Amino acid sequence: MVQPNPYRPGRTHTSRVPPVIPPIYQTSTFELDDQSYKDIQGTGGLHETWYSRFSNPTVDAAAAEVARLHDARRTLMAASGMAAIATTLVTLLRSGDTLVAARQLYGDTGDLIARDLPALGVRVVRVDAADTAAWAAAIAGHRPAVVYAETLSNPQLRLLDIPAVAAAAHAAGARLVVDNTFASPFCTRPLRLGADVVVESATKFLSGHSDVLAGAVTVDDTGLYEEIQRRVITFGGCLDPHAAFLVWRGLRTFRVRMAEACRTAAALADEMARQDGVDRVVYPGRPDHPDAGIAARIMPEAAGAMVTLVLDGGDERALRVLRGLDVIVEATSLGGVESLASTPFNSSHFSMSPQERLDAGIMPGMLRLAIGLEGPAVLAADLRQALAHAD
Ligand SMILES: Cc1ncc(COP(=O)(O)O)c(C=O)c1O
Repeated sequence: MVQPNPYRPGRTHTSRVPPVIPPIYQTSTFELDDQSYKDIQGTGGLHETWYSRFSNPTVDAAAAEVARLHDARRTLMAASGMAAIATTLVTLLRSGDTLVAARQLYGDTGDLIARDLPALGVRVVRVDAADTAAWAAAIAGHRPAVVYAETLSNPQLRLLDIPAVAAAAHAAGARLVVDNTFASPFCTRPLRLGADVVVESATKFLSGHSDVLAGAVTVDDTGLYEEIQRRVITFGGCLDPHAAFLVWRGLRTFRVRMAEACRTAAALADEMARQDGVDRVVYPGRPDHPDAGIAARIMPEAAGAMVTLVLDGGDERALRVLRGLDVIVEATSLGGVESLASTPFNSSHFSMSPQERLDAGIMPGMLRLAIGLEGPAVLAADLRQALAHAD
């Protein structure tokens, strides 16, 4: 008699009533049936759930939620924001193509565009992110396959005029890809403003608790979705189900977290504009922001939860203020419930010379704040005491 296999997992117990919260499908593979084989042989396995690098219900649940926030057709989850960005760009670009990209980009995206894509035969043209006329001229002149930029640049918080750049891209037959990590779909939904693809680090505001790395690619075009999905599958940058559950769980409070963080950011920005020792406050919701007009159009309800201060006394004093913070945590990243602060000169932009930083609009004394849920009074008091002790 054949002994039962002690390693074969038992059938999952299904309760008579559905769980309120969906289970985590922490499994690499699924039992095959006739439908699975039909899908594998018909579409390459893109439509059925049979192996978790292709699809997994927990990952799909997080993806559906991100798509809903963007009012979009489909979202693909990836292992990190960089996996989402690299997979998208390598899918959309071929050797011999031109990419027109913003000069101000997240550092690793900048490296991908400056080093890895040219090594694959892609020609890269860079444009100042906030210069709408320069985008139009570069796109019309170079006829790129892809145009790439971030909704909000880091740490200058300059804005991309998405409708204008999308129109220029489409007139030249190019696709516009927007990294919407800093704005999040609470503030800006780039597809609804004309972009073709949105890439995001779900590590930040989407998941919201600084406890997971994840990425998302959101599109309306289902053909394009499948093209990128094939690369997530073949390059292997898929999201793990447990990480997907953390993203899904964080998304449950996305709207209330974002509403609160953006409200706090706006109040704190105004408070800091009146503070001695602060030379300038950069916040897209303030009338003195250089792109206030664009902000009113592309972030009509909330101007985000990132605030950049330019402190008197340069980078050394900014570092002393950073070190003196008690509530705000000295760390890179953004989008968690706890507020974070960092100085670009020794973190995100350390590899640039002081002159290069100046040319890029990164002023000495800049302190970047990623606002969480502590409330404006607590954060203002922390900044005030750190400023007082830095002298
Ligand atoms: C604007 C932006 N895009 C992409 C990324 C990369 O995301 P991840 O760290 O999830 O790969 C980051 C990370 O800080 C980011 O700030």
